[in-house]
Amino acid sequence: MAEQNVQRLPAEELYQKELDALIAADTDPVPTGWRMSPRAVLTYITGGTSVKGVEISPKYMGNRRLVEIAIATLITDRALLLIGEPGTAKSWLSEHLAAAVNGDSTKVVQGTAGTTEEHIRYSWNYAMLIAKGPCPEAMVKSPVYRAMESGSIARIEEISRCASEVQDALISLLSEKRISVPELGQEVAAQKGFSVIATANTRDKGVNDMSAALKRRFNIIVLPTPSDMATEIEIVRTRVSQLSSRLDLNARQPEEDTVEKVVTVFRELRAGTTLDGKQKLKSTSGVLSTAEAISLLANSMALAGSFGNGSIAAEDLAAALQGAVVKDEEKDKVSWKEYLENVMKKRGHDWLKLYRACRELNG
Ligand SMILES: Nc1ncnc2c1ncn2[C@@H]1O[C@H](COP(=O)(O)OP(=O)(O)OP(=O)(O)O)[C@@H](O)[C@H]1O
Ligand SMILES: [Mg+2]
Repeated sequence: MAEQNVQRLPAEELYQKELDALIAADTDPVPTGWRMSPRAVLTYITGGTSVKGVEISPKYMGNRRLVEIAIATLITDRALLLIGEPGTAKSWLSEHLAAAVNGDSTKVVQGTAGTTEEHIRYSWNYAMLIAKGPCPEAMVKSPVYRAMESGSIARIEEISRCASEVQDALISLLSEKRISVPELGQEVAAQKGFSVIATANTRDKGVNDMSAALKRRFNIIVLPTPSDMATEIEIVRTRVSQLSSRLDLNARQPEEDTVEKVVTVFRELRAGTTLDGKQKLKSTSGVLSTAEAISLLANSMALAGSFGNGSIAAEDLAAALQGAVVKDEEKDKVSWKEYLENVMKKRGHDWLKLYRACRELNG
């Protein structure tokens, strides 16, 4: 399959040029098992400079110190846990950290209610097991197993969705840093460079709360929602342009003013008050994260490019906003209507077109 037709390439392939340049220019000490120094990883993640003529694009935008702490954690023997609200770039940062440190972000276990201990240890190819009995070839190694063996990073997504037995199995792995395979009378010890980056969503709390014992094995970093409007606009603008350049949307980038409107609506509904703090707002059930704002604008571009004149019209934006905000027909429709009438309508001329298009849809 031609590479350009793959829908989503792993970070290390998508950003290979940047990674190669950083490795070539690296002069700092490189930890065992890593491909580049911690400083080079930081440059890769935060971007904004050019190395050996290659522009390093910003990946995570926000508090630089948090990124430094995350990278430093990976050098220690503690695992890293990124937690936060939905859409705060936990998975995104985890993928890019693994891509920079190992050039491989694909050793991933997706945590779900159906995740079993075998997904984090090993299982068997049963056909071969029956034919040959327990032997190394019949073994199906988990991403965590492979990471231990090769001294690299394993990622565990949505760890709090895993059942507690699975979390317990992980505790023993993280404390002993070895996996025993009694069937083969073998034991693999984690090589230097092995670490785990887990992510968890704070909204999932209570699904399977993480035990204190498990939390103790992690350095926990909370990724915040962008603190101010300007940062959030910058994140959305940058990511929309990066994302859309890989899709055939046939549309122009959203105007600065369009991005600002989306971010304004999102921040206000998220906070439950208008930006000036003067008016309380009813909350809505949809997750109005930065990530959602990014995909909302990409959707609007797709609409504009396919059925409009290529630039996002008020109708395109209204449709996308309606989709993001109104998840629960009954309740959200009412809250959205109140927002439209009490806030958006009163904002005057600049917002009028969008207000009309939104009101029409939410009729
Ligand atoms: N601070 C940020 N810097 C750069 N990109 C960001 C930031 N916040 C959000 N994004 C973008 O949001 C998108 C989604 O992020 P991601 O999927 O990592 O969220 P998440 O925190 O894992 O969410 P979930 O809890 O739903 O799994 C990515 O495209 C990412 O680039
Ligand atoms: Mg995620």
